[in-house]
Amino acid sequence: MRFLGINGSSRKDGLSNKLLQIASEEFSSLGHDFEVLHLVDYRIEFCRGCVSEDMSLCSPEKCYEIGDDFEKIASKMIASHGIIFSTPVYWYAPSARLWSLIERMTSLENTPRKYLEGKPVGVVAAAGEDGAQSAITSLIVPLIHMGMLVLPFGMTYYSGKEEDPETLRYIKRMVRNMIFAAGKLQGYSWWENKGG
Ligand SMILES: Cc1cc2nc3c(=O)[nH]c(=O)nc-3n(C[C@H](O)[C@H](O)[C@H](O)COP(=O)(O)O)c2cc1C
Repeated sequence: MRFLGINGSSRKDGLSNKLLQIASEEFSSLGHDFEVLHLVDYRIEFCRGCVSEDMSLCSPEKCYEIGDDFEKIASKMIASHGIIFSTPVYWYAPSARLWSLIERMTSLENTPRKYLEGKPVGVVAAAGEDGAQSAITSLIVPLIHMGMLVLPFGMTYYSGKEEDPETLRYIKRMVRNMIFAAGKLQGYSWWENKGG
């Protein structure tokens, strides 16, 4: 299967990426693909708030018309079997770069087809010291509302300790749970409550 990691840091070689690299090693040792996408390499415009104007104006097609890199990122997310979001903690919150993507992802949810429904998701964060839990919570709530499947043990973080062995164990556990969930739960419509 094919999984995606999204690095919300301004730095490609920071701790947010390091968490994704640990996941990458685990995915590849288990025979699965894992692509890491660094948001800093992509141009993501702010959400234009079309949904507040008229619900029917907010769709992936309309959002792609903005002409930035959202379509590239959305296509990768839709094609993946599961996603790990990794964010640096910037002032007790996810990075603005990642939050811009979350806002644009409204267009993937606000249609009869819920593009991300049932996709297993993990959320990890890197903090210098404090605020990882609030950053992770901020992300998990909209991801649940978008229909993503938040995994058991599907969150962990570094808080200033680069080599915390517990964090490493959690990431590996998250990867294995993601593979299990993606394999077992494909084909069920969580919005319509049917199929599977
Ligand atoms: C704008 C900004 C705000 C930050 N705010 C916090 C914070 O609220 N709590 C914290 O523990 N660390 C904070 N940090 C430190 C980062 O979370 C830490 O350096 C983290 O490793 C950055 O992720 P990265 O290594 O992937 O770039 C902040 C850093 C920046 C640049």
